[in-house]
Amino acid sequence: MRKTLLRGMRLIDPATATDERIDLLLADGVIAARGVDIVADQETRIVEFPGAVVAPGLVDMHVHLREPGREDEETIESGTLAAVHGGITTLAAMPNTEPTIDTPSWVEYVRSRGRLARVHPIAAITVGREGKALAPLAELAQAGAVAFSDDGCSVADANVMRRALQYASMIERTIIAHCEDPALVGAGVMNEGLASTRSGLSPIPAAAEETMVARDILLAGSVGARLHIAHVSTRGSVELVRRAKADGIAVTAETCPHYFSLTDDDVRSYDTSTRVNPPLRSADDVEAIKEGLRDGTIDAVASDHAPHSLEEKQVEFDAAPPGMIGMEVLLPLTITHMVDTGILSLGKAIALMTVQPARALGITAGTLETGAAADVVVFDPRAKVEITSDWFRSLSKNSPFIGSTLSGRVLITIHDGQIVFEEDLGTAQGSGEDHGKRAAESNELVVGV
Ligand code: DOR
Repeated sequence: MRKTLLRGMRLIDPATATDERIDLLLADGVIAARGVDIVADQETRIVEFPGAVVAPGLVDMHVHLREPGREDEETIESGTLAAVHGGITTLAAMPNTEPTIDTPSWVEYVRSRGRLARVHPIAAITVGREGKALAPLAELAQAGAVAFSDDGCSVADANVMRRALQYASMIERTIIAHCEDPALVGAGVMNEGLASTRSGLSPIPAAAEETMVARDILLAGSVGARLHIAHVSTRGSVELVRRAKADGIAVTAETCPHYFSLTDDDVRSYDTSTRVNPPLRSADDVEAIKEGLRDGTIDAVASDHAPHSLEEKQVEFDAAPPGMIGMEVLLPLTITHMVDTGILSLGKAIALMTVQPARALGITAGTLETGAAADVVVFDPRAKVEITSDWFRSLSKNSPFIGSTLSGRVLITIHDGQIVFEEDLGTAQGSGEDHGKRAAESNELVVGV
């Protein structure tokens, strides 16, 4: 396999506390060496972008691929194409497909189909995600499930959730909780507040999320299990997680870019791509999410990439399915709203999208230490990206960010030592020869042969 030398760029690897201008050599699919002035031999492809940052390939711990069942919305192939376009080389796929990922063979199906990026299946907690009978957690873990979740809904029955936490703890897996009490959500479609009163849409109170966060933290603490709270969106949830961590409970939490870049005021347009579960919250909640990211209460930024077809989204707001696509805007939204605003350093932002989600999932990923998989993203944090419908590689286009200009452009994504996305080509899997030609034309990327 050809070697690649990423030369003279700013290398940020929070897992090894590195932020310096050094070279990175990739060989045989792993990080072969790091250092100053690494000498390239004849076989080595050299990648050099002025002003670019080299970081571990991003780890997105919350993604909905729609295969099996809704391949019109996303397949594992199209989803991983979108992932690498966003600099993501490892993703965890939620089990709310049709059928549900609740058998070892479906886990194996999802696990084995990631080609451009690594796909880690998350299996269901309960059979069919019905919240009743526990799925065969040990067999699912053996087949490759990294965690368990009924994401899309909460496990409403506290006794079922308690037993799931107990079993998951025995097999050293994390339960990922979608926290929304179905009774409190009712027929709600947006956050309860002034914005819902003005719009006339049915409200969902913050308590729908917070009562479940509190319940699941109590249950996890009482049985000593590992719990991860998905898509935290309210001030109260951030406070509950902060307190649980202070109490020594093994809880981690994620939020998503839309919970720090949009508010319930953005629903005013009745744009159905702003319908999401949990719903977009108030400006005060957004402030609390930012503070939770800044002080370390929230461990990860994940996309909750939720593709939906145009036909299903082109309906009245309350008839539209919840969710928005997110993998491709994960990095630019985080840079624009958290780094450019001075709330997070770039290193801290990268940690939230690499080593920290990897740790929350208990997987080895998100580091550039020598010997690790050669999963790398090269991006320009200052370059602007104009988000258009055509720009997305995802099969679905349901994004409220279409029309915005964001900071942070992915230039190259490398997975297992292979270039799987290259910005100039605008396509995945560019060949070395193509790079050579383009380098000669653009003078931007230098390729040594
Ligand atoms: O908005 C959402 N969409 N929230 C979820 O939890 C599920 C997701 C989906 O699968 O569409």
